Amino acid sequence: MIQLLTFGAALLVFLLLLGVIYALQRVAKTRAGGGKVGENGLTLQGFSYALILLAVAYALAMLYVFVRGTVWEGHLMEWMNIVVRLMHITFGIAWIGASFYFVFLENALNRTHNVRDELAGNLWAVHGGGFYYLEKYKLAPKEIPRDLHWFKYEAYFTWLSGFSLLFVVYYFNASSMLIDPKILDVSPLAGVAIGIGSFVAGWLIYDGLCKTPLVTKGWWFIGVGGLLVTAFAFFYCHVFSARAAYIHFGAMLGTIMVANVFFIIIPAQKEMVKAATEGRPLDPQLGKNAGLRSLHNNYFTLPVLFVMVSNHFPSTFGNAYPWLVLVAISVGTAGVKHWLNLREKHQATVLVLPASALFLLAVAFTTAPRKEAGGAAACQPVSMAQVQSIVQARCVRCHSSNPTDEVFKSAPNGVKYDSPEDIIRLKDKIMQRVVITKTMPQNNKTNMTQEERDLIRCWIEQGALGGPAAGGVAPGGL
Ligand code: HEC
Repeated sequence: MIQLLTFGAALLVFLLLLGVIYALQRVAKTRAGGGKVGENGLTLQGFSYALILLAVAYALAMLYVFVRGTVWEGHLMEWMNIVVRLMHITFGIAWIGASFYFVFLENALNRTHNVRDELAGNLWAVHGGGFYYLEKYKLAPKEIPRDLHWFKYEAYFTWLSGFSLLFVVYYFNASSMLIDPKILDVSPLAGVAIGIGSFVAGWLIYDGLCKTPLVTKGWWFIGVGGLLVTAFAFFYCHVFSARAAYIHFGAMLGTIMVANVFFIIIPAQKEMVKAATEGRPLDPQLGKNAGLRSLHNNYFTLPVLFVMVSNHFPSTFGNAYPWLVLVAISVGTAGVKHWLNLREKHQATVLVLPASALFLLAVAFTTAPRKEAGGAAACQPVSMAQVQSIVQARCVRCHSSNPTDEVFKSAPNGVKYDSPEDIIRLKDKIMQRVVITKTMPQNNKTNMTQEERDLIRCWIEQGALGGPAAGGVAPGGL
C-alpha cells in the first residue's frame, strides 16, 4: 500500500514537472528573440531544458525503483551506462575539441604581419572545403555583436554526465566497485562522501593556489601543483579500489576544469561583455586570468583522457604502486600536450616530445611483469581439471551465463567461463588479470590464494592445454 502511494506521489511530481516545462515552452515562444545581447540563447529556453533533464532523471529513478530486484535491473543499469557514457564522450569531445582549437588559435595567431591596431592577431584557415579568416581583438570590439558564441554548455554537460556516470558505475554499487576492504574498509556512504568531498577540496586547494603570487612563478607553480596532484593520487589509491581511485583522480581534475569555466572564465567573460556594452574600460587582468585558467585546463586534458580509458589497462591500476604509475603517466601525457602547444607556436624545442615519449616508455618498462624465478620449470604439470575447479570456485559466481553474485547479475564485460574452451580462449586475459596484476577476482571477493594464482600461471606457461587428454571435463561439464 505504502509503495503504491509513494509511486502515485512520484508520478504526480513527474506530471507536474511536465506541466511546468510545457508552460515554460509556451512563454518562451511568445518571447522569441528576447535574449540578452551578447548571450547566445534564451535563458527561459535554457531553463526548460534543465527541467526536461530533471524530468528524465526523475523518470529513470522511478523506473529503477520499479524494476529493482527483477531480471530487468541489470538491463536498465546497462542502458543507463550506455546512454550516459555516450553523452559524456560526446560532450567531452566537443569541450576538449574547443579547448584544443582555441589554444591552437592563440598559439598560431599571426601577430605581426598586416594586423590592424585594435587586433591582437589574425589567422587564415581552410577546412571542410571553405576558407576561414579569424581576428582576435586586443580587448573588445567597439560594439558587442548580437550573436556572440559562448562555449560553456559542453563543459557543464561533460561534468554533469560524468558525475552521473560515476553514480551509475561506482556509487550505486559502492560496496563492490568503489570500496576495496583490503585497502580501506569504509561504509559505502562514507566512500561516496569522501569521493564527492575530495572534488570540492581539490577545487578549493587549486583555486587557492591560483590566487597566490605563486601562479605567476612558472616552475614553482608546476612544482607545488605537481606535489598536490601526487598527494591526491596517493590519497585516492589508499582509500578506494585502484580502478575507482584512477577514475576519482580524473574526476577531480575534470571538476577543477569545469569549475574554472564556471567560476572564473565565464564570469570574467560576462564582465568583459558588460563593460564593453556600457563603454567602460576593460580590466585586462580579467582576460589574462581567464586565459591562464583556460591554459591550465588545456594541460589537464590528456591526463584526464588517459584516466578515462585507464580502466581497460590493468597493468596501470593493477601495479603495486598505482598512484606512482598514475602520476608518471599524467606527467608524460601533459608533456606531450606541452610539445603540441610549443609546436603550434613554432617554438618546438625538439627535445620535449622525445623526452615525454621516453618518460612514458620508462613507465611501460618499469611496470613490466617480472620473470618468475624458475619459470615454467618450477611448475608441476597442471591439469585442465585443476584449473576448472579453481575457476569454478573463484570466478563463475560473476563470470558465467547465470551469475549467482548478488551484485553482478550478468557476466561483467561479457566474460563467461561456462566451458573449458571459454577458459582456454580467454587465457591471455586471465594471465593479465589473475596472475600478473592480480586485479581479478574483483577485490578478491572470492578469496583466491597465491597458490591458485601460481597454478593458473603454470598451466598457461605449460601451453594452456585443455580437453579430456589434459584431464579436463568435456564442454558443458562445468
Ligand atoms: C565479484 C565478481 C567477480 C569475480 C568473482 C571475478 N570477476 Fe572478473 N570481472 C568482474 C568485473 C566487475 C569486471 C569488469 C571490471 C574490470 O574489468 O575490472 C571483470 C572483468 C574481468 C576481466 C576483464 C575482461 C575484459 O574485457 O577486459 C577478466 C579477464 C576477468 N574479469 C577474469 C576473472 C577471473 C579469471 C576470475 C576468477 C579468478 C574473476 N574474473 C572473478 C567481476 C568479477
